[in-house]
Amino acid sequence: MQLNKQDKLKQKVAIKALDYIVPNSYIGVGTGSTVNFFIDALASRKNDILGAISSSEESTKRLKNIDVDVFDMNEIDAISVYFDGADEVDENLSLTKGGGGALMREKIVAALADKFVCIVDKSKLVTHLGGFPIPIEVVPMARSAIARYLVKKYQAEPVYRSGYKTDNGNVILDVHCLDVSNPEQVERELNQIPGLVCNGVFYQQSADIVLIADENTVVVKEHQNF
Ligand code: 5RP
Repeated sequence: MQLNKQDKLKQKVAIKALDYIVPNSYIGVGTGSTVNFFIDALASRKNDILGAISSSEESTKRLKNIDVDVFDMNEIDAISVYFDGADEVDENLSLTKGGGGALMREKIVAALADKFVCIVDKSKLVTHLGGFPIPIEVVPMARSAIARYLVKKYQAEPVYRSGYKTDNGNVILDVHCLDVSNPEQVERELNQIPGLVCNGVFYQQSADIVLIADENTVVVKEHQNF
């Protein structure tokens, strides 16, 4: 299959991520088109790991297709590295995620992992988060109330992801025009809203390492505290 330019970059960064696999450990695997390339590449290294913890039904299916054992997170007490993409990456390696709707499990697996390696193509780099609408996962009965609250408090524009259900049986609001200039505060405030189960701002679970593919190379950025 002929890949377009962006997919070539996604594939390149996904292959580079294999360098960060810790042998004989459990790894976390995210969701999305970049991660799909990672899973394809992982086929060549599957015997080096004990298994994977997956962030979505889609990634679970793909991992099983390449014969990687997928474990329930309750069975595992340590994940060496979590590999996942992002919708946006800022210079502090804070992220927005959830374009694929898997944000809640992604945040949980990222929190358990010793290290979060984020894999992106150069189009995901931004000066300020929030240009991409922030996905929030909400309990269905709270959808309209939360949408009204976001309009009133933040003058944001939530859009219901119609016809979409998360793996957890919830729904997604894609929040446009939300000011994310202080990601720490926005993530914390959104977490306080009853019925909102997860938001797509990854400040607490920012990446430890971001691999960024451009046409020439894969740039490695490490968190300053790492
Ligand atoms: C899924 C995600 C993805 O990591 C994010 O949407 C990036 O996806 P892609 O690799 O397809 O560009 O957060 O919930």
